[in-house]
Amino acid sequence: MIFQWFDERLELKKFKDKFLTKAFPTHPSFLFGEIALFSFITLVVTGIFLGLFYEPSIREVSLFGAMVPAAYASAVRIDLLPLGMVIRRIHHWSAMIMIAAILTHLARIYFTSAYRKPREVNWLIGLVLLAMTMGAAFTGYLLPYSQFSVTATSIAYYISKSVPWVGGWISRLLFAGEFPADGTVPRFFFLHVMVIPAVLVAMIGLHLLILVKQKHTEPAANKKRKGAWDGRRLVGIPVWPEQSLISLSLCFFLLFVVVLMATYIPLNPIETYGPPSPGTSVMRPDWYFLPIYGFLKLVPGDLSFTIAGAKITPETIGGVLFPGLLGLILAAIPFLDRVSEPQNYIENPLHRPLMTSLGIGGGMFLCMTTLAGYIDVLHIAPASMAIYTFFVTMAVWVISYLLLRLYSREGKKGNHVKT
Ligand code: HEM
Repeated sequence: MIFQWFDERLELKKFKDKFLTKAFPTHPSFLFGEIALFSFITLVVTGIFLGLFYEPSIREVSLFGAMVPAAYASAVRIDLLPLGMVIRRIHHWSAMIMIAAILTHLARIYFTSAYRKPREVNWLIGLVLLAMTMGAAFTGYLLPYSQFSVTATSIAYYISKSVPWVGGWISRLLFAGEFPADGTVPRFFFLHVMVIPAVLVAMIGLHLLILVKQKHTEPAANKKRKGAWDGRRLVGIPVWPEQSLISLSLCFFLLFVVVLMATYIPLNPIETYGPPSPGTSVMRPDWYFLPIYGFLKLVPGDLSFTIAGAKITPETIGGVLFPGLLGLILAAIPFLDRVSEPQNYIENPLHRPLMTSLGIGGGMFLCMTTLAGYIDVLHIAPASMAIYTFFVTMAVWVISYLLLRLYSREGKKGNHVKT
């Protein structure tokens, strides 16, 4: 009855027949994109709650008899609201889960070559999504304005200042002056709650529209199924009801896990860090920034030179060139590993020795630079850690390449034994 009322006005049936009958692959590795999406929705909902009570200002106010920045005081007061601390933790845990899901989603697409023609554009949009999500996490760091927030953000401030030629301009634009300036928190707040979410919503929409237009890739095993891909149709379960029910169950399960984590696992304890004070202690950023933080530790502190009028400092190398090069390599992948015909079946990573071993080696390199972020507690000299990073990465790459080559050569022979 209600459906019919809306259908007469909005032609819902046409929409149902066009979109809700689309096939979705049954392989669970296709669910990481959805986990990223649900985490983003959780971030928006919990963010609206936090935004109602947060004050984006560093004017001094009284909190339990002490004068502290208003942003810090409002974050402490949020923790004291009924369920306030749990909601703040859900927000932070969801950010971590979203980044972990995006990275796993990216790895799935990389290892199975789903970035190849015609999906190069969606790969590039995905990279913008990753950068924007990291940007959201970075701007969020400063908002509670604790000692941790200010220490972490000042590292980023010096990195932004070290960008060749335009560093001064970028840092003033981003930080609204010399950090910590009065305008930094309002500017970060605006970026965090308006600009970045708007770009994310637009880009996620585009990402999914392109996905609907191009359709998913399929596991190669589907080639043998009846009605296999003929350029127009793919094999899978329909979006409604099967896939929607799986997605809804996944969404509730994710919510359950994140609430459980937020209830029992403390995160960013601003009351322990306290408001900003002159003494700076060693504070590590969240895990997803650790490879950059660790790489910065590996660059000799006195390495500094000038090229074409641009001053290159350790911050330029570790904080600008390293992530910039990483981004460029990722963006170039679909254009280096290209095919002339559209590829709609994903490949088995075990049959791609070079690309898979490069991916494993690259992952190992990021693990080693993450470890370098703990150099102060590991008691290893930066030069030794740099040498270990190089040799471990190379060894993992070469060994995995040789093993995968051997595997795919044996696989081609089609040896089967019965025991
Ligand atoms: C906010 C972040 C992101 C969200 C919400 C998101 C969402 C999704 C969803 C729901 C799918 C369909 C399910 C799947 O194939 O796994 C998908 C597919 C895809 N995504 Fe993402 N994604 C994000 C980030 C990325 C990133 C970082 C990349 C790569 C750099 C990427 C590249 C792709 C590609 C190429 C496809 C098509 C894969 C295929 O057909 O096999 N996405 N995305």
